[in-house]
Amino acid sequence: MSVSPMEPVEQTAAWAALAAHHAAVFGAQAAEPFDLRRAFARNGERFAALSFEAPEVFADLSKQLWTPETLQLLLALAEARGVAARRDAMFAGEPINAPEGRAVLHTALRAPRGAATRHNAEVHAVLDAMGDWTDALRADEGITDVVNIGIGGSDLGPAMATRALEPWRLPRLRLHFVSNVDGHDIAPLLAQLDARRTVFVIASKTFTTQETMANAAAARAWFDAQMAAHGGEADVARHFVGVTTNLAAAAAFGITRCFGFWDWVGGRYSLWGAIGLPLMCAIGRERFAELLAGAFAMDRHFREARPEANLPLLLGLLDLWCRNFLGFASRSVAPYHQGLARLPAYLQQLEMESNGKRVALDGSPLAVATSPVVWGEPGTNGQHAFFQMLHQGSDVVPVEFIAARRASHDAMALPPALREALADQHRKLLANCLAQGQALMLGQDEATATALPAPTAAPDYPREALARHRHFPGNRPSSTLLLDELTPRALGALLALYEHRVFCSAAVWGINAFDQWGVELGKALCGALLPRLASGDARGLDASTAGLLARLRG
Ligand code: F6P
Repeated sequence: MSVSPMEPVEQTAAWAALAAHHAAVFGAQAAEPFDLRRAFARNGERFAALSFEAPEVFADLSKQLWTPETLQLLLALAEARGVAARRDAMFAGEPINAPEGRAVLHTALRAPRGAATRHNAEVHAVLDAMGDWTDALRADEGITDVVNIGIGGSDLGPAMATRALEPWRLPRLRLHFVSNVDGHDIAPLLAQLDARRTVFVIASKTFTTQETMANAAAARAWFDAQMAAHGGEADVARHFVGVTTNLAAAAAFGITRCFGFWDWVGGRYSLWGAIGLPLMCAIGRERFAELLAGAFAMDRHFREARPEANLPLLLGLLDLWCRNFLGFASRSVAPYHQGLARLPAYLQQLEMESNGKRVALDGSPLAVATSPVVWGEPGTNGQHAFFQMLHQGSDVVPVEFIAARRASHDAMALPPALREALADQHRKLLANCLAQGQALMLGQDEATATALPAPTAAPDYPREALARHRHFPGNRPSSTLLLDELTPRALGALLALYEHRVFCSAAVWGINAFDQWGVELGKALCGALLPRLASGDARGLDASTAGLLARLRG
């Protein structure tokens, strides 16, 4: 595929219009720089104008540092950059991942059977095979544990989603995820397992990834030894399955049953097909189909909703506004749902591996910043850790709150007293979520702080100085995404929303969100250092690496 050079984004008229708007409303030239409290006081319609509905997700973006005019200018930028045409090219299966000459069709994985989408028959053949195998596994009382061995996209998606959908897990089947090449990951897990009752899923798109191959070999050695100790046959076909695009390498490992996927599915976009196998083991094929249906509904929204109501597009543009015009280098993700504990880690790969780029699609250097640092923790835990910095630190970090109106434990068979206690906890959870967004926005001025009782302050500490410690600047931005409940369908829609949002910022910047050359150098250097760790040969190494190598061997 030839790549036509693109006009650098910062040289477009639409960018210049945004820069002028920023200077006039938010910047040094503003007579009265933008303030969220004033914006709400002056515009009674602000919440309505800046909150949006998409399948399964309601998004309040009104507490962001932008105005309806900003949004219009961002939409004009998206139009100028041809975001819709690039989206359509993706869905049509054009090789938009130009540096690797590949199509990007993870959306085909969630198209319903018979849809007029590319690869529909192949996709459903794999889903059917996964469904048949997981039906049998879930019915097999002899198997109690499933261990997924994979890393990056072959771990984060299924690990995060299995945790998120825990209320739907078949109770007697335990799911485990091993990713780190560090033996401290797999060893304690294996120590708890019985090989006769365990199935390993070796998940690797390439089937060459060092960490996964090492853990797979360790699991196999343990399995063979355990089975020999029990006097049983090491039935690898029953206890090991593969998920890969590299069927030959899996066969060489001794795996006979494989669930395939294709080079048009990027690792971090692969949850929806065979990489979702452990999730399907946990929740069953019907629930897995609901996850896909939620994602498909978001795909349709992305393709069909008009730009002003297109949530993935609006979020992608908001991210770009925060990064390039407001200069925020990070975004904190705060799920107020314990099930989404691994969502920040999942989003780190999705967003930072996709958009952590410094050259454009055509290879030319970029003059603007790209992916922010994405980080976070479940909300109430974060409140007792890093939220101090979010409220009063020197950097402004936009926060993304995610909450579900209804708790999934409502549907569980619980004793009435516990049900009542948990209902109360859910209200506390939601109150915390709302309070944090409110506190970031409203802040607390020094006069109010001065009037507060000061229980922990030293008696002789000056009151004015104490008031400054208790001053919250406010005007700090946040978004709130609300689900009705974290069901399989809602999770599917939420994740597809994030995928498309990352796509939209990439399309405006003109970068390729679907390669990851940045991981290669470390892999190559690791390969060269590995024998040196054994031999101690430090010749030609830089002094720091040589010094560290010597200490590690000492
Ligand atoms: O970290 C680089 C990467 O290639 C990711 O993009 C990918 O998800 C991960 O490694 C695992 O790769 P594989 O599934 O081929 O083992």
